[in-house]
Amino acid sequence: MGYLRKDFYYNAAKKHNFLARSIFKIQEIDKQFQLIKPNLNLLDLGCSPGGWLQYVSKKLGNSGNIVGVDLKAIDKSRFSTSIDFIHGNIFEVGQEISNKGLFDLILSDISSKLTGISCADLYNNFCLNREVISIGLKNLKIGGNLCMKMFESAKTRQLLCFCRLYFQTVRQLRLKSTRRESAEIYLIALNRII
Ligand SMILES: C[S@@+](CC[C@H](N)C(=O)[O-])C[C@H]1O[C@@H](n2cnc3c(N)ncnc32)[C@H](O)[C@@H]1O
Repeated sequence: MGYLRKDFYYNAAKKHNFLARSIFKIQEIDKQFQLIKPNLNLLDLGCSPGGWLQYVSKKLGNSGNIVGVDLKAIDKSRFSTSIDFIHGNIFEVGQEISNKGLFDLILSDISSKLTGISCADLYNNFCLNREVISIGLKNLKIGGNLCMKMFESAKTRQLLCFCRLYFQTVRQLRLKSTRRESAEIYLIALNRII
């Protein structure tokens, strides 16, 4: 195993009955950027098993609306508010997403299944990132925000530069809760301008 699986965040998630250790990532991002506010129409791409959904549904309460998308099912009974779930591949459910109206915030914690061949994994994740950005540009309101997981590679700069054409502020963020050996970073694109 390449990393210590049961680390501090894994144990903390278990202790608090969270669905995934990744809940600490959205918590860390939100603390810094205050993305999750009442009344949002929010889209969570790659939402299963639902750690991020647990966090956002608790923060939004009954205000706003949450749409989740994933290849894997979620257990809707684990969330404090109702979740509108689209069970499918983001490359195939574009129309279903668009039918939900425009979003104030799009979150993506999507990552591809690892093949163990690092250049293939980086390429697969790059394709997912491009699709997430494309979904963002089709479905985000002007003034809306995008937060997307990516893996640092030679193409990181291209994705960041591209997003700078459409958003007022684009930052990349490395989280404390990301495993030390991981190349994972988050792109935070704020205030869509065109
Ligand atoms: C790291 S997990 C997300 C964890 C989630 N944020 C949470 O807090 O529970 C990545 C998810 O991306 C999903 N995924 C990967 N490729 C996808 C695709 N093409 N379409 C939809 N979901 C995808 C996987 O099924 C997996 O559930």
